[in-house]
Amino acid sequence: MTLQFSLGSIAPETVDTPCVVVGVYENGLLTSAAARVDSAAGGAIKRQMETGDITGKGGSTTLLFAPSGVQAKRVLVVGLGAQKTFDGARFQKVNLEAARALTRLPIDSAVSFLAEADVPGHDHAWRVRIAALAADYAAYRYTATFKPREKSSQPELHSITFAADEHAQPGLDQAIAIAEGVRFARELANLPPNICNPAYIAEQAVKFAEGHESVSCNVLDHEEMERLKFGSLLAVGRGSANKPKLIVLEYKGAAADEKPYALVGKGITFDTGGISLKPGPGMEEMKFDMGGAAGVLGAFVSAVKLGLKINLVCVVPAVENMPDGDSYRPSDVLTSLSGLTIEVLNTDAEGRLILCDALTYTAQTFQPKVLIDAATLTGACVIALGKYASGLMSKHDDLADELLRAGENALDRAWRLPLWDDYQVQLESGFADVANIGGKNAGAITAGCFLSRFTEGQRWAHLDIAGTAWDEGRKGLATGRPVSLLAQWLIDRAG
Ligand code: BES
Ligand code: MN
Ligand code: ZN
Repeated sequence: MTLQFSLGSIAPETVDTPCVVVGVYENGLLTSAAARVDSAAGGAIKRQMETGDITGKGGSTTLLFAPSGVQAKRVLVVGLGAQKTFDGARFQKVNLEAARALTRLPIDSAVSFLAEADVPGHDHAWRVRIAALAADYAAYRYTATFKPREKSSQPELHSITFAADEHAQPGLDQAIAIAEGVRFARELANLPPNICNPAYIAEQAVKFAEGHESVSCNVLDHEEMERLKFGSLLAVGRGSANKPKLIVLEYKGAAADEKPYALVGKGITFDTGGISLKPGPGMEEMKFDMGGAAGVLGAFVSAVKLGLKINLVCVVPAVENMPDGDSYRPSDVLTSLSGLTIEVLNTDAEGRLILCDALTYTAQTFQPKVLIDAATLTGACVIALGKYASGLMSKHDDLADELLRAGENALDRAWRLPLWDDYQVQLESGFADVANIGGKNAGAITAGCFLSRFTEGQRWAHLDIAGTAWDEGRKGLATGRPVSLLAQWLIDRAG
């Protein structure tokens, strides 16, 4: 169930709700909403701060049940941490923790005053946007492949009202559209690869296009790609019974003759490594290897829902990488769509092999204003940046800056790695124009360098989301990154 959001000008002590949410800083400092609730409730919050039951530690939550003097049935007191260092990232975190606490309560709605807390450099609309996105993120549940449960009689959270005036409305409108894209991406990426195969992703894209006047979808099957000579992409797919698809979505929000922005996403629906087989432990995580595809599709959904006045194309090479008697092999030399030949030295470096043809196709077909790809491309990027920052690579400083800023603004952050020519020698081959791996040093960068050979003359950037696309562990879910970053960047471009 998706959460509903609204704005209201309300008083925290008199609002009639199952739960009112207020923030307190460390060191006994109350936000104005918390102070009003506290004085109406005869000091109920301050007393617990004095005893140390409420610390104000960032992200901590304490529930007061039916405090007298307050109209709300419950008060959720959320720690904001130290006021001196309160910033956007902390603001996002406390909203996430608050929403997590709310979803565990038997309530159907709540009223939050958290977006009233000042965040240096950000206005009320931004705060409401981040708060709503955090709440929607926390409320998401993956249920697709569980046995259908009987509907529980317990109420479930389905609406949150943020205390804010109409100036914050644009922030809420953006949040609703972006949340839809994030959910779209998360659900697609969470599905198992026996359901979410190339044909399935294509079906979802077609379905989305059918529901939206301004969107069209064209799916190239493997025969079409053979005619067009997608020699690199098709080699990767050869070992799988699930044949590759190239999914092409177009959105027209601007004049027909205006060049589009283009997003390309790695859609490996399962990455076994192929003949260069991956080790068993952890291989199940490679169902998320279509996280780039999910991310660009989610950003596309957000852009359409926002009605951005731009033209946008989204291209997804959807392929499964399997070992088989017909698989491609190390030492094979492939002729890519661009004409460049590629020596395969490792069939597990398959993402770049499907992306190079998809990037060539996108550049040739659409001559986009800007070309951006997102891919769970390298384990090396996870080693370099961990789970907090996506790796950003571009030869265009201004484009890189735009994307970094969009990521900061959306709190879906990226960090730049260089694409200097110095690294290109690592890709030299004795048998083809380029090798598909660059040795053990700088693996994220040499993967980017490989792609750079297929995007010459394009205003292009690459996002390696291997560390950010999902949360690791048995119960780790897809994060929906980098939907927010890309949606923000497109919003900025639309002006
Ligand atoms: N999909 C993987 C990258 C990956 C690994 C993402 C772990 C997230 C977590 C990619 O196809 C891959 O296997 N890359 C290889 C490249 C190597 C063979 C040059 C890698 O990173 O080990
Ligand atoms: Mn691989
Ligand atoms: Zn992969």
